[in-house]
Amino acid sequence: MKDQLEKIKQEFLEGLKEIKDTLQLEELKNEFFSRKSGKVNEVMKVLKDLAGDAKKEFGVLVNEFKMEMEMNLAKKKSELDKEKMGNLVDEEGIDVTEPKLPLYEGGHLHPITIVQNELEDLFTSMGFMILDGPELESEYYNFEAVNIPADHPARDMQDTFYIKNHANWVMRTHTSTMQARSMQKYGAPLRMIVPGKCFRNEATDVRHEHTFYQLEGMVIDKNITFGDMKGILETVAKHLYGKDTKVKLRPKFYPFVEPGVNGEVTCYLCKGLGCRLCKGTGWLEIFGAGMTHPNVIKEGGLDPNVYQGFAFGFGLTRLVMLKYGIDDIRLLESGDLRFLKQF
Ligand code: PHE
Repeated sequence: MKDQLEKIKQEFLEGLKEIKDTLQLEELKNEFFSRKSGKVNEVMKVLKDLAGDAKKEFGVLVNEFKMEMEMNLAKKKSELDKEKMGNLVDEEGIDVTEPKLPLYEGGHLHPITIVQNELEDLFTSMGFMILDGPELESEYYNFEAVNIPADHPARDMQDTFYIKNHANWVMRTHTSTMQARSMQKYGAPLRMIVPGKCFRNEATDVRHEHTFYQLEGMVIDKNITFGDMKGILETVAKHLYGKDTKVKLRPKFYPFVEPGVNGEVTCYLCKGLGCRLCKGTGWLEIFGAGMTHPNVIKEGGLDPNVYQGFAFGFGLTRLVMLKYGIDDIRLLESGDLRFLKQF
């Protein structure tokens, strides 16, 4: 009996060596373990004819053989599985073919917002408050209150969008609308900036867009001089382009300041030598400024004989274009992800 079992075992182990795939393995398993015709079961049938110790002894023996064979079977099966997965599963059992989860791509700030935040930080550190104002504005605050009466030629340069059936409403053409508004609301002394969207009816091209951003600033107090203005503007220029940056102020007319200036800073790319960015001049024009006109101070509800001040307006959109080397202004409001994802 024992010999018979031993013979079956040898036969099984020999068979196992020849196995090449799971199908063959399944066949071998049936050949030996099938309930109906399996070779092991055939031998077990003898059990019922035995009795007493002989039965017990044989039972234990058969079970041992069975267990050993099953162990070998399982071992072979795992070998085959491993072979099949081959190098797809590495040592740690990580399936390298598993599709990876898409990486979470966090959003980020728009380049205009990045530069705006940077300037807000600088101005708050100098004691300025940050104001917000309406984009849909009355003609009064956009023009009259900043010394641009209805028949003034300056209006031609700032054509904008008008609202049907609301003759006196305009999309603001500049953030200077907040000059009179802020004085009326907060009085003096006053130190404020207004970053925000402005609109103009432009024939759009690489340098003109119907929607753009400015950053207005104003200081109103007693004994404010042109020197104070220059100091602030130099601080901003150095903050933006480094401590060697110089500021050049050239006379320019703006109805709401007197005197008015056009502000240029040393080109940060060529350091003033002249290059493509500054069109060979060595200077970049980035703001308008001037001493606040007495008429504007009056509109703000203050006495121009007591209070003076200055105002400046940075082209925020222009600063962003210079900073990132953007050559088409229309990209900024385009919502084009190919453009936006670069920041
Ligand atoms: N509002 C002016 C413009 O849009 C800029 C400016 C602001 C100039 C304040 C002087 C003082 O061009």
